[in-house]
Amino acid sequence: MSEEKVIILDFGSQYTQLIARRVREQKVYCEIHPYTLSPAAIEGNSTKGIILSGGPASVYDKGAPHIDAELFQLRIPVLGICYGMQLMTSLLGGKVVPSKEREYGRAELRIDEPSQIFDGLKKGQTYWVWMSHGDRVETLPPGFMTFASSSNSPIAAMGDPDRGLIGLQFHPEVAHTEIGGKILSNFLFRICQCRGSWDMRSFVEASVKRIKEEVGRERVICALSGGVDSSVVAALVHKAIGDRLTCIFVDNGLLRKAEAKEVSSILRDSFHWDLHVVDASREFLSRLKGIEDPEQKRKVIGELFITIFEQEARKLGTVGYLAQGTLYPDVIESVSFKGPSATIKSHHNVGGLPERMRLKLIEPLRELFKDEVRRIGEELGLPDRIIYRQPFPGPGLAVRVIGEVTEERLKVVREADAIIQDEIVKAGLYRDIWQSFAVLLPIKTVGVMGDERTYEHVIALRAISSLDGMTADWVRLPYELLGAIANRIINEVQGVNRVVYDISSKPPSTIEWE
Ligand code: XMP
Repeated sequence: MSEEKVIILDFGSQYTQLIARRVREQKVYCEIHPYTLSPAAIEGNSTKGIILSGGPASVYDKGAPHIDAELFQLRIPVLGICYGMQLMTSLLGGKVVPSKEREYGRAELRIDEPSQIFDGLKKGQTYWVWMSHGDRVETLPPGFMTFASSSNSPIAAMGDPDRGLIGLQFHPEVAHTEIGGKILSNFLFRICQCRGSWDMRSFVEASVKRIKEEVGRERVICALSGGVDSSVVAALVHKAIGDRLTCIFVDNGLLRKAEAKEVSSILRDSFHWDLHVVDASREFLSRLKGIEDPEQKRKVIGELFITIFEQEARKLGTVGYLAQGTLYPDVIESVSFKGPSATIKSHHNVGGLPERMRLKLIEPLRELFKDEVRRIGEELGLPDRIIYRQPFPGPGLAVRVIGEVTEERLKVVREADAIIQDEIVKAGLYRDIWQSFAVLLPIKTVGVMGDERTYEHVIALRAISSLDGMTADWVRLPYELLGAIANRIINEVQGVNRVVYDISSKPPSTIEWE
């Protein structure tokens, strides 16, 4: 993938993704692998460093994740973070014990000894760092020395400079560790001797090369939704194999106003991709008839999507690969996170299809965050309208029409939604907001228009900020904007006489109402 890389072994920490991101920010290419990756698979000229992530286990737990101690013989520098440090300690002959007090949150770190990892930081000086651990190192492994301490961890940073082994009890990857960037850069550039020449262009070049090699002469299909993830994947694959890529866009009738038309005209007409648009809106609507339960809606939509996609794909003859826009938060949500989103995300991609159609998967964005994907989209020359499009759920407006989905109710939510988008764009807020949309509630309320009593629908307006959709907060939209949106919806959308603003965060609420 790159001339130099850092391998991150994942022990299940919620921060593993952040470590990768921080390394990439320093222009060093890195890959996350499960901790089971063998030392033999890691060894190689291009691996300049190894990072052992944190994790929820205790090294002495039965079944705690372990690695082969041979890893430390590879003559490649290793940075162990939290659990990674404790594992390093126990494998190399030191001792780990439960902390007297669990240390969680901000802690003061004192630098005790000069070392490469703290290069540029002063001995005797204290810095705020982020701790989250129940165990701590009590006895150093032979050859190691203590570099820094905190009140609950006398050995908060340790290392063996001769072997390039470093252990940190705190998390340098989180923003609360003020010296985190400095520490990671010391590890990458001083200890691992990385050069740091990786960027989004290198990512594109390397991905294109890899896709070419992997796919050979076979054909690839891609389920295009018009969102940034699938569009960037398609653009990457198209750059690699041109017309051997076919994109299938299923219009399920649950899209935003004019969306199907807009996306297909941008991608087919401007980019000349082999794009098949399937209008299946009638089928979706008829299957959704009478269904009110949110999960049932998702199930019906997901299954029908697969059937239609499969039918269309079969028309193309032999296809070897399916390209998918899976991102890191999708992977982590389905692997380590056991929240409600785990099920939600199963519909995000064409679940079940690869096995059914015996397709091999290409997922070039698996290790990236949405903002990184957007930068790749820019690198590939995709239009802003696609790159900065707000995320939109696979089941579309069906989960924004609470209760039964009918043509009329879809029309109401679609019109209200279009007004919201229009006003948010005009206010210059579209890119700052993760998602902004309308939800049609299953109740009617009394109003008065002219001299007439009305009894009509309620629209809930939702606008949230988020980094990855896993947590979110409601946006403090200016009152004037809220007023303008409500006015326009009530005046312009027939059948609506009330607008309310959703001020719940996630958790405990979710972003979508269903
Ligand atoms: P929630 O509602 O779980 O949403 O807070 C988190 C993010 O995921 C999107 N979402 C979905 N995306 N299929 C999808 O592809 C779904 O069934 C689905 N449900 C929610 C949601 O829009 C938000 O960005």
